[in-house]
Amino acid sequence: MENFIAYNPTSLHFGKDVIEGLGQIIKKYGTRVLLVYGKGSIKQNGLYDLVKSQLGSIEAEVFEYSGIRSNPIIEDVDAAAALGRSNSVDVVLAVGGGSVIDSSKIISIAIPVNFPAWNFFIRKAAPTTSVPLIAVLTLAATGTEMNPFAVVTNHKAETKGSFGSPLTYPKHSFLDPQFTVSVPRDYTAYGVADLIAHSLEAFFGKGEEATLSDRLVYSIISEALEYGPLLLNDLTNYKLRAKIMYAATMALNGLTMNGRTSGEWGVHSIGHILSLLYDVPHGASLTIVYPAWLKLQKDRIGERIALLGQHIFGVQGADETIKQLEQFFKNTGCPVRLSEVNGISPDPEEIYRIMVHNKAATNVHKLDYVDYRKIIGLMM
Ligand code: NZQ
Ligand code: ZN
Repeated sequence: MENFIAYNPTSLHFGKDVIEGLGQIIKKYGTRVLLVYGKGSIKQNGLYDLVKSQLGSIEAEVFEYSGIRSNPIIEDVDAAAALGRSNSVDVVLAVGGGSVIDSSKIISIAIPVNFPAWNFFIRKAAPTTSVPLIAVLTLAATGTEMNPFAVVTNHKAETKGSFGSPLTYPKHSFLDPQFTVSVPRDYTAYGVADLIAHSLEAFFGKGEEATLSDRLVYSIISEALEYGPLLLNDLTNYKLRAKIMYAATMALNGLTMNGRTSGEWGVHSIGHILSLLYDVPHGASLTIVYPAWLKLQKDRIGERIALLGQHIFGVQGADETIKQLEQFFKNTGCPVRLSEVNGISPDPEEIYRIMVHNKAATNVHKLDYVDYRKIIGLMM
């Protein structure tokens, strides 16, 4: 096992009606609130009214920034930060899925500065302070509610980039599975896929053996394999929503990384390129890349892939493991090839160019340019 520091300062408020405590928590930080949300799902499912009533109960002055898009863009982050800055807000309140919370993390460190937020992503500047961030999560998938990471697209730079710092953890995150009941079937499936992928990125990471962290990975994935399909047939089931929501948080809050020096993250880096080029939803990008990546890596890390399969599917061998995982993704309605994504015309040369530009998958199990061609072929 590698040396590690376990650190996670986010208070997680989990369960039915936890939103009733939101106002009092916000009040601890102040009453001038920048409320950030997406395209409108929170207005349709009633959460917006509940949040506004909590803000009303503490007589908060609220400044709203809405319209954060899925696969969020840096322009929205800068515009929302400007709104927060000009109104001297005390708190950023993010209500939404990963896109809204990720954007809000960067907004919270961009409000105190006077330069473009992208400077953080290119390491031209490091944050020294942040406006406290409180999150209300509406979609179980990314784990952003209890980690410091934010992923934002900059089309001019041809990158979907990541940033994280001890300053970008939410102070508090509110997770009521009731508010995920309205997530449509496709995004529910993408969320299940995303939490599996996060567990796998840890499992295929770097370092000496970390058996307990491996067993946590098997357990989290087993929850997804067992309850994900049940949930997809019963979208309004609170108990199943709760199980998947908790699993998604645990899959990327540091727990599975203890005892390792790094996660793999190659699949995510390629998935981000598919989202950058074709706006593929994040979870769907991963169900396309993961089977391809495993096929490419099976002659290099076949034993590790087989170990995974033995524990999560009860099968022998790397080939059977990959087959089972791909079949699971298919059964949940996720695409496993780019050709299965409606309305896009993927261009292998363009994907290759952007992979080179972004040095994709060069962290742990490094891919070279020949591998890039191979994995693109496997994804088509
Ligand atoms: O915009 P609204 O109207 O809210 O609609 C959203 C959006 O269309 C909708 N939605 C969210 N909650 C809903 C709902 N619809 C009905 N009922 C609800 N309760 O779902 C759509 C997708 O939302 P989005 O926030 O984009 O999805 P997700 O939570 O999967 O977040 C994806 C983003 O997170 C990043 C991804 O790259 C992507 O940009 N990730 C963040 C990570 C992190 N911070 O740790 C790690 C992940 O690997 C990932 O990279
Ligand atoms: Zn992910």
